[in-house]
Amino acid sequence: MRDFERLAEEALEPGAHGYFAGGAAEEATMGENLAAFARWRIRPRVLVDVDSVSTGTELLGGPLSMPVLVAPVAFQRIAHPDGELGMARAAAAAGTAICLSTIATSRPSEVAAAAPDGRRFFQLYCFRDRAVTQALLDEAVESGFEAILLTVDAPRAGRRERDLRSGFEVPAGVSVPSLDAALGGGRSLSVAEVFSQVDASLGWGDLEELASGCSLPVLVKGVLTAEDGALAIEHGAAGVVVSNHGGRQLDRVSASLDALPEVVEAVAGRGTVLMDGGIRRGTDVFIALALGADAVLAGRAPLWGLAVDGERGALRVLQIFREELELTLALSGCESPAAVTREHIQAAPAPRLYSEGLG
Ligand SMILES: Cc1cc2nc3c(=O)[nH]c(=O)nc-3n(C[C@H](O)[C@H](O)[C@H](O)COP(=O)(O)O)c2cc1C
Repeated sequence: MRDFERLAEEALEPGAHGYFAGGAAEEATMGENLAAFARWRIRPRVLVDVDSVSTGTELLGGPLSMPVLVAPVAFQRIAHPDGELGMARAAAAAGTAICLSTIATSRPSEVAAAAPDGRRFFQLYCFRDRAVTQALLDEAVESGFEAILLTVDAPRAGRRERDLRSGFEVPAGVSVPSLDAALGGGRSLSVAEVFSQVDASLGWGDLEELASGCSLPVLVKGVLTAEDGALAIEHGAAGVVVSNHGGRQLDRVSASLDALPEVVEAVAGRGTVLMDGGIRRGTDVFIALALGADAVLAGRAPLWGLAVDGERGALRVLQIFREELELTLALSGCESPAAVTREHIQAAPAPRLYSEGLG
């Protein structure tokens, strides 16, 4: 995965690379998302029959080849001309689901047509103009999307300093067709323009309204506390995504992995708990499962695959996730993701501040 990350940096124009790679402010949370996994150790069990190991799982009423989904990432055509259509085909070929961003460079109906057999979930930003929001939802429902991830951690865009320095602009010719009609049609929209349309007044009542008026399950993406995990379920959500938006929104919040246990406890089996942030290896997936996630989303990792080699690169990254997870399961004595428990991990020993013998 690190090779793809490096090759993507070579493949992308520097401003575009900064947009995809960057986080908010000091990028402290972005770094924490990765560091959090290093604070756990796997406790492998031996002499368990792992002759046949499956990474397969069930999520939101359907099967997945593995508990790793493609996270919603905006503007994928900037990474590669294959864009979201290539990503959707890669996810389908890998047997997993794509979560399509509201800020996608292909319409939901086009993504459905590109990978009709793949599972697809739709990430929704709720816009001030509810007619725009409703039109997006209607298209997703009609196009066979199976769930809505309502992103709630972005009432404003985070302070992405790499973009401020590079002066990154969405390239001419890259548009967000599903927002065109509402926001002025056919031209490139800036990241700031899109976020300026997000309804910053959204509250729990709006979630309740959305969840009760929508035929699909609604998951709340961007939850980091037990309080909000419980409120989401109480207001009609089918689940939550424990996420800090890949460290791109509020800096200095917890790593998603560190927030996961309190949210799992608060949801208490009443809904699905997904997490994202820092997933780069099969062992990361394993640790998140052990801490109670039903599945994880990977954002930048498949995006780097797409940037390097389009649909083929994204598929390769997803295959690597599956291979690594299968190996991790086999070597830790788990025949499937469902067999992973809290007892399969422990906190790493605290780092020694002073070396022994120095008195
Ligand atoms: C370039 C980029 C664009 C993103 N766009 C969206 C988006 O449109 N909607 C959304 O809910 N999350 C978006 N995210 C956040 C991801 O869905 C996910 O939470 C995050 O990337 C997970 O962290 P990871 O990149 O370390 O896997 C974006 C992330 C990146 C890196």
